[in-house]
Amino acid sequence: MSKTIAGFSKLSKSKKIDWIVDTYFSNAEDANKVLKQYWNTNDKLQQLHDEFIENTITNYYLPLGVAPNFLINDKLYTIPMAIEESSVVAAASKAAKFWLERGGFKTKVISTTKIGQVHFKFKGDFKILNQYFDLVKPKLIKDSDAITKNMNKRGGGIIDIELRDKTKDIDNYYQLHASFETLDAMGANFINSCLEQFAKTFKNEALTFNLFSEEEKQIDIIMSILSNYVPDCLVRAEVSCHVNELSENDSVSGEAFALKFIQAVNIAEVEPYRAVTHNKGIMNGIDAVVLATGNDFRAVEAGVHAYASRNGRYSSLTHAKVVDGVFTFWTEIPLALGTVGGLTGLHPLVKLALELLDKPNAKELMQIVAVAGLAQNFAALRSLTTTGIQQGHMKMHLMNILNQFEANIEEKQTLTEYFKSNTVTHNAVVEALNKLRVSSEK
Ligand code: MEV
Repeated sequence: MSKTIAGFSKLSKSKKIDWIVDTYFSNAEDANKVLKQYWNTNDKLQQLHDEFIENTITNYYLPLGVAPNFLINDKLYTIPMAIEESSVVAAASKAAKFWLERGGFKTKVISTTKIGQVHFKFKGDFKILNQYFDLVKPKLIKDSDAITKNMNKRGGGIIDIELRDKTKDIDNYYQLHASFETLDAMGANFINSCLEQFAKTFKNEALTFNLFSEEEKQIDIIMSILSNYVPDCLVRAEVSCHVNELSENDSVSGEAFALKFIQAVNIAEVEPYRAVTHNKGIMNGIDAVVLATGNDFRAVEAGVHAYASRNGRYSSLTHAKVVDGVFTFWTEIPLALGTVGGLTGLHPLVKLALELLDKPNAKELMQIVAVAGLAQNFAALRSLTTTGIQQGHMKMHLMNILNQFEANIEEKQTLTEYFKSNTVTHNAVVEALNKLRVSSEK
């Protein structure tokens, strides 16, 4: 059967599935069953999900967990996290509890500016282009009035538009580099609509600008699009306490813990191989909350990693120090998030997640998300520099294997106890489970 098809998007959902299972699966019936098993029995809810994207054939579940006990600027939160990776929610919860007893997290939004650009080519004299830009700039803003009216009313809108000469990088390449305040919206649609309007006005008005030659009048718009690099949409989160308070048991002093912890952060500051994994751990926390609250985690990821390399070398997003006996651990991270628009009012679980967070505005959500990242990194570094990461992971690994072999509650209890003093490997778990089953049959 041909693996290409014309008009796929026009087929009904069940015809799409028929074609897929018949074309790609040795057992079409089984594949069909798996896909349909994830359909929601509530037709309206299913239709809602079908319409989020194109060519939907089923739903893809991710677990939604919660991490309680987050004290952020003296307010308590239980943070929703959508993530498939085991140990992440447990680590967040552990870090939350640790800092709950030490004054909690302190956060502040540093800035909320977002950027969009019209990329264009112009063959001619930059000085005259600059004159044209100064003349047309008020009209660029005026022609966008219909788009910006509501946002302006709420206190946001276009902040500024600059003309940027990029001809050092590419011949005849210039930009309209615009900055925006989009308040509680992530703002992608708003920014892109403004930019496309700027491009239209900028191109049209050039045709009648009489200082331009005929060639100069032909401004070539390449594209108009927001930037997911948001170094001026920045939030800070930090925790701090006296080093003596860091110790939870007598085996390691708070000072020794802090020293090792800071060295681990320092390594991530200078060593890109470590920095990527270090930051990946931060993103475990950030993405999970971004996803649970219906935000665009790809945009956040792209922006955060670009920011992590802003000084020419990929580096840690968190930092730590001890000054006068006080340990401080912090991050400053760019997060362009929304709490209105997009999925936020559509997806029932997103609405629920936002309500769980007491309906935050975008600034509050930035702070919560930054805390989730910082907490995750704290938990990871704490494990890495003390017990090692595998102890916790192996507990989850054990549970995954036991679930895979459909162990019952008693079997799980017995084997969890047994593997407290034995090394978890796939073989060892299967062997122990089989032994247990054989002995209980006798
Ligand atoms: C695993 O998902 C994340 C960690 O590797 C992060 C880190 O190494 O800091 C544990």
